[in-house]
Parts: sequence; C-alpha cells; structure tokens
Amino acid sequence: MSVVDAATRGRRKVPAAVTTASLLVAWGTLLAAAPYLPTSSGIRPVALFVHLAAVVLGFGAVLTLDWSGLMWLLGRQDLATLVSVARVVQTPIWLGLGLLVVSGAQLSPDTSSPLTVVKLVAVLAVALNGQWAGRVQERLACLGNARPSRRLLGAAVLVATISQAGWWTATLVGFISAQR
Ligand code: HEM
Repeated sequence: MSVVDAATRGRRKVPAAVTTASLLVAWGTLLAAAPYLPTSSGIRPVALFVHLAAVVLGFGAVLTLDWSGLMWLLGRQDLATLVSVARVVQTPIWLGLGLLVVSGAQLSPDTSSPLTVVKLVAVLAVALNGQWAGRVQERLACLGNARPSRRLLGAAVLVATISQAGWWTATLVGFISAQR
C-alpha cells in the first residue's frame, strides 16, 4: 500500500469551507459565551491541571512534528517518515487543543482583556492553520520520496512557522495571565 493510499484510505473528505466555517462558529461561540459559563472555585484546580496536561499533550505532539519536519528539511530524514509522524500526531494535537479550549473556558477567561483576545486569536490561528497543514501533508504524501516543488516547500515551512508562533503566543499569554 502506498503512503498516499494509507493517508487517504477510509477517510471521507469534509470540504475545507465546512471545517473552516465550523471552527469560526465554535470560536465565536467560545468568545461570546465564556463570560457566562458557570465556574466554581472547587473545579478551578482540576481545570488548571487539565489545561497544563493538555499543553503537554498538544504542544508536545506539535513540537515532535515540527522537529521531524526540520530533520527532513536538513536532509536527515526522508519524506515518508515525516508523513507517518504527521499522521500519528494528529490525534494528540487535536485532542490537546480541544481539552485546552474546554478547560480554558472553566478558568474564567477575561474576554474584555486585550491579552486574552490575543490568546484566543492565536488559538483560532492554530486551529485554522492545522486544517491547512492537513492539506499540505496530503500533498507531501502524494510525492512519495520525490522532491517537493518550491511552492509546496514554502507552504510546509509557513504552516510550521504559523503553528509554532500560535502555540508559543498562547503559552506565553497564559503564563502572563496566571501571574496577575
Ligand atoms: C493553544 C492553546 C493554549 C495554550 C498553549 C494555553 C496555555 C496556557 C498556559 C501555559 C497557562 C498558564 C497556567 C499557569 O501557569 O498556571 C494558561 C492559563 C490560562 N489559560 Fe490557556 N492555553 C491555551 C488555550 C486557552 C483557551 C482556548 C482558553 C480560554 C477558553 C484559555 C484560558 C486560560 C486562562 C483563563 C488561564 C489563566 C489561569 C489563571 O488565571 O491562573 N487558554 N494557558
């Protein structure tokens, strides 16, 4: 079975516009509903633990993928290895991001604070970029071990840069908010 077959087998494609619209609606709902969500002081330590564990899970998986991408760019790893790493880290990345949103909502985010808005925009960017990353990975998988075009290479580097910028921004803002 080729890498492409393996990557696409058994998966029904959801149109990009549908997933983008769903992510935007979910993000808008989170922003609007966050101030009204019931929270309690008893649940806060649990939510904070889940939040930090989800950073480890999601960001850890993202770092694994981006490190693997860097090794490929430096010629120390082949494309087929990068594609299989990309496939196995999808679940921890999306699970981590989902848990961050659910637990973050329980931490009484102050959506009137510009810093919180910056963080939520970073989270939205991470989610939308993750979708685009999936499409770039599919195109890379189609190459086998052939050289990608400059355009595809540029897209892969841009996707990884946006992902790193988004995750580090959210982590930094979370850290700053927790100091206040
Ligand atoms: C990529 C996604 C995210 C990352 C990497 C992230 C990371 C962090 C980190 C590292 C902290 C510091 C915790 C501490 O030092 O005690 C934090 C705190 C916090 N996060 Fe997130 N977070 C993310 C998404 C979210 C989302 C989506 C929300 C809201 C819905 C949120 C709400 C909060 C709040 C309110 C705090 C402050 C807790 C406090 O006041 O102690 N986070 N986050």
